[in-house]
Amino acid sequence: MTSHTIDPDLVLSVQDVDKTFTLHLQDAQRLPVLRGLTFDVPRGTCVVLGGESGSGKSTVMKMVFGSYGADAGRILLAHDGRVLDLAAAQPREVLAARRETMGYVSQFLRAVPRVAALDVVAEPLVERGADRDTARERAAELLSRLSIPERLWTLPPATFSGGEQQRVNIARGFIAERPLLLLDEPTASLDARNREVVIGLIRERLARGVGMLAIFHDADVRDAVGDAVVDVRAFTPQPAGAAA
Ligand SMILES: Nc1ncnc2c1ncn2[C@@H]1O[C@H](COP(=O)(O)OP(=O)(O)OP(=O)(O)O)[C@@H](O)[C@H]1O
Ligand SMILES: [Mg+2]
Repeated sequence: MTSHTIDPDLVLSVQDVDKTFTLHLQDAQRLPVLRGLTFDVPRGTCVVLGGESGSGKSTVMKMVFGSYGADAGRILLAHDGRVLDLAAAQPREVLAARRETMGYVSQFLRAVPRVAALDVVAEPLVERGADRDTARERAAELLSRLSIPERLWTLPPATFSGGEQQRVNIARGFIAERPLLLLDEPTASLDARNREVVIGLIRERLARGVGMLAIFHDADVRDAVGDAVVDVRAFTPQPAGAAA
């Protein structure tokens, strides 16, 4: 196994990553999305992914979270006192990195049937060994801060409104404090007041040194918390034969 090093100020360093999708339902047609993707996420900063719809922002997020593989390059995460290359990691290492080191607020909540909102939110803490009552107390604090009415806490979020589900998803992503947080349009269906709450949560974590990689639909939120922008269009592969 090769060992890597990164600057101790960084939580994530993405180096020379290529990604091409193969469309198996369409005669294995190849769709090159990213070439030579390179950027760093320093601790305590929020790096925003920019670029038009379809340019590959969510793909970057899913490669970092280990849901999509990378075809080439390195995705170096400061994890557990060493540097883990997520582009070459074993599935169990990816799972350990998710439990301890990186949180992900996806755009949509993957609703688990029959599990109460309070437990959906508490789960990441329980997985890390917190006792259930403590985890539920912490979950309740976050749900009230995000204005989820108490009568909903014991219900499964499957029937919640879009904005309520998104707030449950945010609470779940923020409950365990991990050094890297991935945010895919976390405020897309929130009203102004809840957007402010989320901005507050993001700022608190940044101040404590958490690094973030984020996609923000909303220019207000981007301006409020973004420290740097990585435009993924700079890494769009040129079609073969195009002039350099
Ligand atoms: N699993 C997949 N299989 C095949 N193609 C995919 C897959 N995921 C994404 N793509 C393609 O890769 C390209 C980038 O998609 P991606 O979702 O990363 O874009 P995005 O920048 O997040 O767009 P948006 O702003 O609309 O969310 C698109 O052309 C998309 O169709
Ligand atoms: Mg997207």
